[in-house]
Amino acid sequence: MSTDPDAVPEIDDWNRLLEGRVAAVTGGGADGVGGAIAELFAAHGAIVEIAEIDGERGAATVEAVTAAGGSARTHEVDVRTESGVETFTSAVLDTHGRVDVLVNNVGDYRPLVRFHESTPESWEDMYRINLWHVYAVTQAFLTPMIEGGGGSIVNVHSVEGMRGFPGEPVYASMKAAVAHFTTSLAAGYGRKGIRANGIGVDLTQTRQVDYISGYEDHEDLWEAWAPVGRLGWPADQARTALFLASDLSSFITGHNIPVDGGTKAGGGWFFSPDAGRFVNRPKTL
Ligand SMILES: NC(=O)c1ccc[n+]([C@@H]2O[C@H](COP(=O)([O-])OP(=O)(O)OC[C@H]3O[C@@H](n4cnc5c(N)ncnc54)[C@H](O)[C@@H]3O)[C@@H](O)[C@H]2O)c1
Repeated sequence: MSTDPDAVPEIDDWNRLLEGRVAAVTGGGADGVGGAIAELFAAHGAIVEIAEIDGERGAATVEAVTAAGGSARTHEVDVRTESGVETFTSAVLDTHGRVDVLVNNVGDYRPLVRFHESTPESWEDMYRINLWHVYAVTQAFLTPMIEGGGGSIVNVHSVEGMRGFPGEPVYASMKAAVAHFTTSLAAGYGRKGIRANGIGVDLTQTRQVDYISGYEDHEDLWEAWAPVGRLGWPADQARTALFLASDLSSFITGHNIPVDGGTKAGGGWFFSPDAGRFVNRPKTL
């Protein structure tokens, strides 16, 4: 066991937490969690490489990063496919010869199929979009990351992988697998300089999960819904990803953090504006 106090990394500039690091982000298109992560990482000096199926969304993130004086490039690929993963990972490694940070962010609950109506094909679709590429992209980058002196992997999953999700157990189990893959990867590769942590997202306004449309007249719902009393934004997720990707979290690995405004902590308790207190049943007595 090392007892060397110099093992704690120096932070030279707290405003540039990822200076010069190559950061790969899947699904880094604009208006999503990945886009916010790409922008914040670039603002902290990272050289950002995005894998994004939607060329326009990818280009919009690159434009925002460039306008702010940062460095980013997007690759129009589908990370559900072997060829998409190969195109992306070899472009990053051919250009930089290394990767220091990896954010596996792509995922989707759609189309939502109730389990009793699901099929082996719909299970396969959930696997491809939520789990397969997490293995594939991580495997392609892991050895170069180790050879480059180590790195940080951040896997974006869901609070639904950390609690029972009645609506879609197949989706939830894929997210749970991402969380446990994260923990196990961390345990196995810590001595090789790899840290791996996960983010369990909830209640975050994006194109995929639109909490605003249809709820315009229900501002008061937030007080009841989220213990912190507000909607989450991609920037809330990005700040956590920056912490986990950077040396701020140098002694943290194998954890999955719910970034959910407290919904997991609340665990079935809702604040009732009528009752003026938290309740755990639909009708307050
Ligand atoms: N927003 C929430 O509240 C919420 C809740 C739970 C989990 N999540 C998870 O957070 C992550 C980000 O979701 P989001 O809300 O930002 O959604 P989003 O749909 O806004 O962003 C996903 C991005 O990934 C891209 N993408 C989709 N499929 C791809 C593919 N096959 N190859 C490459 N790129 C692809 C999309 O074009 C988009 O830019 C996902 O893993 C999602 O499951 C989000």
